[in-house]
Amino acid sequence: MMKPFIYITRKLPETLIQPLQDRYEVEMWDQDDVQVPREVLLEKAGKASALLTMLSDRIDGELLDQGEHLKVVANLAVGFDNIDVAYAKEKGVAVCNTPDVLTETTADLAFGLMMATARRIVEGDRYIREGEWKSWSPLLLAGADIHHKTLGIVGMGSIGEAVARRAKGFSMDVLYHNRNRRPEAEEALGAAFRSLDELLKESDFVVVLAPLTEETKGLFQKEQFDMMKDSAIFINAARGPIVDEDALVEAIREGMIAGAGLDVFTQEPISMDHPLLSLDRVVVLPHIGSSSVDTRYDMVRLCTDNIQAVLEGKEPRTAL
Ligand code: DGY
Repeated sequence: MMKPFIYITRKLPETLIQPLQDRYEVEMWDQDDVQVPREVLLEKAGKASALLTMLSDRIDGELLDQGEHLKVVANLAVGFDNIDVAYAKEKGVAVCNTPDVLTETTADLAFGLMMATARRIVEGDRYIREGEWKSWSPLLLAGADIHHKTLGIVGMGSIGEAVARRAKGFSMDVLYHNRNRRPEAEEALGAAFRSLDELLKESDFVVVLAPLTEETKGLFQKEQFDMMKDSAIFINAARGPIVDEDALVEAIREGMIAGAGLDVFTQEPISMDHPLLSLDRVVVLPHIGSSSVDTRYDMVRLCTDNIQAVLEGKEPRTAL
């Protein structure tokens, strides 16, 4: 009997995929920093029983229709806006993501990005390397305090809660906005619920950690930035399309807010001539929220476990 075929859309460490290789026919796209071309993905999907995909792969109707033998798509991310989950379900294809294992690591990055933006850490590094440092100076790269300030979290899932826990260590007041109220978070973390408008008006830092859905797409427009304090710092560690980037550029240029830290963009990679990259008070990262070695390894292991479970007719650990 032919072994089920598994296609992995990015080069991953061999040791991590060994458990799959022992049981199945496994093929992997051979590059780790270049996306698998669409036509290759479609062709592989045509014969695969399982796909291990990245958040940059579009798993849509066209692809799912191609996947005659497809039983499971395991996405190496907690977010799954790249997948047509409803259609996959209709076709009987299980979709799995990687929640929990990346919560603390992504919260570290979101908090770090907030600190880097507020305290101008990246600007400071550039300043020295560019030979600008002439002498100590009283207000050199003076930034904003984080401690005792108000943090507004938009999207209070487990990553939001993990950021709130960190904020407590910095004596911050924590506000949150979420589709549903989270009484456990209010009790455990002392986080206070606000409407989005209230949160925007009261917060010194607004950190977006919501999933990308029809509801959150384009949530941040000029009007939302206008409501924020002119000293406020905006952080997006969720998904780029939640924010209208032109409105964000305008908000920073016009002084509606003080700066932004962004791990995600509408188009990834962001183009080098994007106006966001010309602004000093913007810190940018290449979508590395969950990228610590330990966490990325755990995410891959979770994906391979999920694939194996589905192919053996068992319940995957983290199905959507
Ligand atoms: C996710 O898992 O959705 C994150 O964006 C990856 O960093």
